[in-house]
Amino acid sequence: GKYRVVSTKSMPGTRWINLLIEQDCRVEICTQKKTILSVEDIIALIGDKCDGVIGQLTEDWGETLFSALSRAGGKAFSNMAVGYNNVDVNAANKYGVAVGNTPGVLTETTAELAASLSLAAARRIVEADEFMRAGLYDGWLPHLFVGNLLKGQTVGVIGAGRIGSAYARMMIEGFKMNLIYYDLYQSTRLEKFVTAYGEFLKANGEQPVTWRRAATMDEVLREADVISLHPILDKTTYHLINKDSLATMKKEAILVNCSRGPVVDEVALVEHLKHNPMFRVGLDVFEEEPYMKPGLSDMKNAIVVPHIASASKWTREGMATLAALNVLGKIKGYPVWSDPNRVEPFLNGNVPPPAACPSIVNAKVLSLPVSKL
Ligand code: GLV
Ligand code: GLV
Repeated sequence: GKYRVVSTKSMPGTRWINLLIEQDCRVEICTQKKTILSVEDIIALIGDKCDGVIGQLTEDWGETLFSALSRAGGKAFSNMAVGYNNVDVNAANKYGVAVGNTPGVLTETTAELAASLSLAAARRIVEADEFMRAGLYDGWLPHLFVGNLLKGQTVGVIGAGRIGSAYARMMIEGFKMNLIYYDLYQSTRLEKFVTAYGEFLKANGEQPVTWRRAATMDEVLREADVISLHPILDKTTYHLINKDSLATMKKEAILVNCSRGPVVDEVALVEHLKHNPMFRVGLDVFEEEPYMKPGLSDMKNAIVVPHIASASKWTREGMATLAALNVLGKIKGYPVWSDPNRVEPFLNGNVPPPAACPSIVNAKVLSLPVSKL
């Protein structure tokens, strides 16, 4: 291959590798056992010549790495994630490196995990499973693991972008929940969907669902029974959920976070869980992954899973493919993947010039001569 593309991790599927190999790239995949690579580890992977890197959300892509990549002749970096709080886009701009992310392909998968956590929390599925396995079940009882009925309750969505809107649709249509959402932008498609669904229910003689776009986040916190967080993480959303916002929520509310850990003040959350046994959370992300704040793992009213919201086979293969296309597109000057859901292929405006892109979409899967570092 004429171009050297490095992936800091092995990624699912083979399509992403073939796309690169077929287009003059030599693909090198880091096979180091260590889960989280340091900046120094990645500098070593970049080496003297590197045209592009596919990296992960656990890595700190700042000034140091972009200058190293640029010195090695690199033009492109793609995060294998939709979130890019681990990437300093200004630093990438400064060194002339295009930055890509992988939106669209993970929308439904991530929303489905948020829905799963909402249901698991509402119906206390994890606690009940532990109870069963511990041999504590000695017969049916009217009070055993009584939880919440979602139907007719209000789902609160904070951040109604692609994922937040998909989650809202699932909870509304699946469980006939009313909606209250907070976002800086109006979500017209979501509003149209709820309105139409409400009319459908009415036409069938059922109670229609209601919806409202809240003027403040506090309205959502006060009114919703289940609240799911879907904002991006930046300075404005750091500790968006803190001691005060928790105190604003209903005592028996359910909070779900599949966005980024630091959106929630986890120490305040543990304190809140301790004092409000009927308050429940489902967490996919944590403030300082892979760690949990002290006390969280002891809380029966918390369900915790290890950042797996985008972890379906289809999605992870799609994310790897998009990340490869981001890097390839920039290296070869191809137009970017034209998925209409994918509105920010290059975050810093370094969109490659339009040109024909011969075999990207229908690349066949070959057996893989992958070189290893
Ligand atoms: C995963 O967390 C992502 O941002 O894609
Ligand atoms: C996230 O921002 C998404 O909706 O893909």
